[in-house]
Amino acid sequence: MKIVSVVGARPNFMKIAPFIHAIESYNKSAQEKLEHILVHTGQHYDDKMSRVFFQALNIPEADVNLGIGSGSHAEQVGQTMIAFEKVIQQERPDWVVVVGDVNATCACSITAKKENVRCAHIEAGLRSRDMAMPEEVNRLVTDRLSDLLLAPDRLSVDNLRQEGVPDSQIKFVGNVMIDTLEAQREKAACLDPETIVKNNLLLDNAELPDALSRDLEQGRYALMTMHRPSNVDVLESLQGILDFLLTEVAEERTLLWPVHPRAVQRMQEFGLWDRVVESRNLVLLDPLGYHDLLRLNMTACVMLTDSGGLQEECCVLGTPCLTMRWNTERPVTLKEHGGASILVGNDIQRMRSAYADALRDGRRAERPELWDGHAAPRILQAILTAAH
Ligand code: UD1
Repeated sequence: MKIVSVVGARPNFMKIAPFIHAIESYNKSAQEKLEHILVHTGQHYDDKMSRVFFQALNIPEADVNLGIGSGSHAEQVGQTMIAFEKVIQQERPDWVVVVGDVNATCACSITAKKENVRCAHIEAGLRSRDMAMPEEVNRLVTDRLSDLLLAPDRLSVDNLRQEGVPDSQIKFVGNVMIDTLEAQREKAACLDPETIVKNNLLLDNAELPDALSRDLEQGRYALMTMHRPSNVDVLESLQGILDFLLTEVAEERTLLWPVHPRAVQRMQEFGLWDRVVESRNLVLLDPLGYHDLLRLNMTACVMLTDSGGLQEECCVLGTPCLTMRWNTERPVTLKEHGGASILVGNDIQRMRSAYADALRDGRRAERPELWDGHAAPRILQAILTAAH
């Protein structure tokens, strides 16, 4: 059997690594080995957004790189489809496996189905019900077309059923992101937070907070990430969030911010960059490698983020998480479902009150059903079973 799997952007790499390792481990004892071809669409291309993850997570170099790069949605999706069609026509795989909800996921699932190749979607069934979010469009298209829907939690299974997907196409396998987290957590735990910070400063001449060492040692620091267009592309949203972060959080503790290239671009365009750079206690970092961010997340007193993957990691690690969005496709990570995350949007009142609660309540780890570190072998088994 021949499988082509696809990655495009940073959050895909943590999802494909365990699947590739499951194939490698299957092939060690299988009579009929699986042939696997890894395609990188090249949506994320900076070393720090891509190559370092391949190295850290032991992902073999991609067999094919489509070199798509930056562009509008239509450009990214269209160019990926044109390039991926050639790969499919040449390789004629039995399955195309796509992960997550980025433009590569959507583009390659459409191309696979147009070429009449079966498609499996890892992380199926997530719904934010927010059609203004490009990822929601990608999820809907990918799930509608895929033959095998590999769901990370029961709420996602319910979403798919409600949309009329037959049970035979849905498999509840658990969360493959947590496979990577469990495989890497020991290595991350050995890292020293202060070394991570000092090795990854975005600006060479950055002035470090006086209390940096104390805050890192005592787990008094806050950690944040932000890249969603709804937060960083809209001046009012970005300004509101920055106001809270700079005047309230960074006022009383070290705030670590690995900055996404998109956020840097927007802050510079909006004229907010100088204020951010000059802020006391805010430490701007380059995009971090997997182990570095995991290590910082292990002992932060609070996470502020608009990332989906970090909501999940915070849940299992126990970091109180203020999710800077009005909705989430991952409700299983929310407090009302037993998780660690609370939706605060870009509303300062909400952020303030959730932030105070987070500091008061402290860290508390939760593990949703089948987030046990063994999703990938179940995924591979589901594909092998569906193949017969
Ligand atoms: C993409 C995904 C999003 C995911 C995020 C994680 C889609 C629709 N969005 O959003 O779901 O959460 O990745 O990072 O697929 N850039 C660089 N270097 C890079 C990559 C991007 O400088 O290696 C810059 C480019 O100028 C680009 C911008 O960042 O225009 C945004 O990148 P893009 O891939 O379009 O979307 P993300 O915002 O990263």
